[in-house]
Amino acid sequence: MTHSNSITLTNPKNQTAFDMPILSGTIGPDVVDIRDLQKKSGMFTYDPGFISTASCSSNITYIDGDEGILLYRGYPIEQLAEQCGFLEVAYLLLNGELPNAAVLESFKQEITQHTMVHDQLNNFFKGFRRDAHPMAIMVGIVGALSAFYHDALDISSKQHRDLSAIRMLAKVPTIVAMCYKYSTGLPFMYPQNKLTYVENFMQMMQGTPCESFKPNPVLVRALERILILHADHEQNASTSTVRLAGSSGANPYACITAGIACLWGSAHGGANEAVLKMLEEIGDVSKIGTYINRAKDKDDTFRLMGFGHRVYKNHDPRAKLMRETCHEVLNELGLHDDKLFKLALELERIALEDDYFIAKKLYPNVDFYSGIVLRALGVPSNMFTAIFAMGRTVGWIAHWDEMISAPDQKIGRPRQLYTGPVQRDVPALKSR
Ligand code: SDX
Repeated sequence: MTHSNSITLTNPKNQTAFDMPILSGTIGPDVVDIRDLQKKSGMFTYDPGFISTASCSSNITYIDGDEGILLYRGYPIEQLAEQCGFLEVAYLLLNGELPNAAVLESFKQEITQHTMVHDQLNNFFKGFRRDAHPMAIMVGIVGALSAFYHDALDISSKQHRDLSAIRMLAKVPTIVAMCYKYSTGLPFMYPQNKLTYVENFMQMMQGTPCESFKPNPVLVRALERILILHADHEQNASTSTVRLAGSSGANPYACITAGIACLWGSAHGGANEAVLKMLEEIGDVSKIGTYINRAKDKDDTFRLMGFGHRVYKNHDPRAKLMRETCHEVLNELGLHDDKLFKLALELERIALEDDYFIAKKLYPNVDFYSGIVLRALGVPSNMFTAIFAMGRTVGWIAHWDEMISAPDQKIGRPRQLYTGPVQRDVPALKSR
């Protein structure tokens, strides 16, 4: 971060001028450093939704919304999705560099040794209804992890932070699979150390104690890519939630739980489930026009789920990769005539030719195709966001660790523009 220039502001109340430094990163827009604004002017900035606000500096992920660029530690998402496995990318996000073969193998072994959860966690599931939403269960179970790991909750210790990171990365797939099994009444499956990270998740999700599980390599590769595409995305709502929770010194399991809760919203990670519901509601290409018109109608709350993005005002590079993965999986499974996929392709084509969507720069985002792929992989729609959370856990951990390790780390405590009543006296009850 360098200080290149400054911007001069004049306070209209007293005509005093003051300079605010302009900071530059390695790539991307400069920022105005307003940390002294309140001291120099007595005023705050006002930016609900943080449209124009950089909440931190970070070395992890870079997005260029106009060019449709996404880099993890400088590497383009297209190359990572094509050439790497998920744990390779996870190591990169956590450590800043891609591992060599030996380091990767040892990282994989370390993760494998932590994939089981404490057996008493199984009892927690019994408190939930079988039809509870898997994200509600995940919030409960991941939040409870800190009750089992008192041996490594000193966040000032790098060793404790690293162990918590390994434990979460290793256990979240097991918990996600348990959420699914619990909803079906089928027994939980234990992790199998001889399997890879994604093979293991698939056997815990789809395997049964009655027969050995044979993973389909094309489907494993597809899910590996889905997790890579979801692994991180700069300061999105759930990552910002994790950072804010962590800034108070909360333990990492509680912070990741806060991220899971935030991701569940349909404007964020819950959109993939909402896309599938929307496609099923549209049902047929003949109805697409009606729904496009609803999405454009200001008086209608309906939005085209899986479209639009706060940052991407061009194609979300992940959506294109997800569409390719969709083709691969549906072809592998002989579902190339899948009705919903054809409907999604036609909806995308029509929307991208519509003046409203062109004017507002609304393109398909990562969630538009992910639901169709996951459904083809046999994942029920209420599990889609849990899979998103499984991929994003490593990004949340990387940002949490970066925030905790930052030399200028402070508790996050925004201010407000107060628009409520001025001070007044409490009238006696009998006179109200
Ligand atoms: C994710 O931040 C991230 O990086 C998130 C994510 C990640 O990896 O972490 O990329 C994952 O959350 C992807 C987004 C998934 N959500 C959806 O697909 C839900 C549908 N999309 C919208 O709700 C919306 O586009 C958001 C929430 C994604 C972005 O909202 P913004 O940036 O606050 O934009 P906005 O709501 O102000 O919309 C700008 C205009 C509005 O019209 P005007 O008020 O200017 O007239 O575009 C319209 C909106 O009405 N608009 C849409 C629309 N999205 C925006 N109109 C119809 N359909 C849509 N989907």
